[in-house]
Amino acid sequence: MDKIIIHGGKRLEGDVRVSGAKNAALPVIVSSLLTDGWNVFHNVPDLADIGTIKKLLTGFGAEIEGDETLRINAGEITSCEAPYDLVRTMRASILVLGPLVARMGRARVSLPGGCAIGARPVNLHLKALQSMGAEIDLHDGYVEARAPRLKGATIYFDISTVTGTENIMMAASLAEGTTILENAAREPEVINLADVLKGMGAKIRGAGTDIVEIEGVKTLRPVEADIIPDRIEAGTYMIAAGLTGGDINILGCMPGHLDAVITKLKEAGMEITPIDGGLRVVGNRNITSVDVKTLPYPGFPTDLQAQMMVLMSMGGGVSVIKETVFENRFMHVNELTRMGANITVEGNSAIVRGVSELRGAPVMATDLRASASLILAGLVAEDTTEISRIYHINRGYEHIEEKLSSIGADIRRVKG
Ligand code: UD1
Repeated sequence: MDKIIIHGGKRLEGDVRVSGAKNAALPVIVSSLLTDGWNVFHNVPDLADIGTIKKLLTGFGAEIEGDETLRINAGEITSCEAPYDLVRTMRASILVLGPLVARMGRARVSLPGGCAIGARPVNLHLKALQSMGAEIDLHDGYVEARAPRLKGATIYFDISTVTGTENIMMAASLAEGTTILENAAREPEVINLADVLKGMGAKIRGAGTDIVEIEGVKTLRPVEADIIPDRIEAGTYMIAAGLTGGDINILGCMPGHLDAVITKLKEAGMEITPIDGGLRVVGNRNITSVDVKTLPYPGFPTDLQAQMMVLMSMGGGVSVIKETVFENRFMHVNELTRMGANITVEGNSAIVRGVSELRGAPVMATDLRASASLILAGLVAEDTTEISRIYHINRGYEHIEEKLSSIGADIRRVKG
């Protein structure tokens, strides 16, 4: 298995360009299931999860060409089954459920199963489809959904769910009548998807607010569209600048998507200024400890919680990091502790007492964002950090070793 080896202590300096957002690209790629003809998507990142979604769509009969510019034609759908082997590697596979039922009247999608960061059920996706008239059965670990034509409904999400909102927005675009989503997720990735669907001819109002209204249409046409930049990747590199006392220009990011992150990093003592095409981020080695609470957008993203914890580990005082989006998303704590961090978990809060140094150690990645946090810790740690199970990082960070090396990090991947 591949490992990442980092010799820490280098100050990072220079330009780093942000890739397209994984969490926007996945639903946008899936939306091509709603159309007959060639869709073209630009700025698609080169990631393992994108490979998984391509395999799923190819399995349904779609034709797919290209990488960064991806062309997809789902004109002929020959299978409506998403098999366990693919779904288990990526929970977001559940996104195909709504579009398949809307277009084909049926779908059979494996349940995602256990997940390292909490129960992460899909009950809200299923309940919403049921309100739209779908018959749903669970058999042998698969969700089987059927509906000759979905019908518009008013759906209240008990919890703000990102992929749930996206799944139902896609399904509702081809449903009969109007669907209203209440307590909808407001993430920029939801807006990106809504814009793509509107380009296809869907009638959607309110995306980006907590009430989204979708008036169903009979057919949608193919579209050409861009994937937004990855705000989580941008935030990760911003934190890298903070940790190493670096000076990095984060190019191609959308500062407006990073308000909560920018606010917190400034409170922690970093200088962040808009520049042409992105943000200049300057860290100093006196990191101020700040409290952080993860929340749905526009709050501080849970996908940056682990990375922020590394920054706070090097803070001058005590920080309380409260995780309110996912239960059990503190698996990185044990590994960070092995590198010398002082962190105590109490329920859904982590109390992080700043230490003067982290030390390199052999550590193991447990999930995507946890692996990013271990890389960040390795960048600032004394000596050598060796991170195993690094396949998690391939799911969400495009060319991370190349990007970090290009701004001065001593990081390399060894094949194992
Ligand atoms: C998406 C992101 C993920 C991010 C998360 C929260 C993608 C592909 N993934 O995941 O990177 O960490 O948003 O910002 O976009 N829930 C239920 N029932 C459901 C659905 C969700 O109880 O049917 C709960 C979850 O367990 C969690 C909360 O709702 O506690 C939010 O989850 P959700 O927004 O659905 O996360 P994902 O869409 O899976």
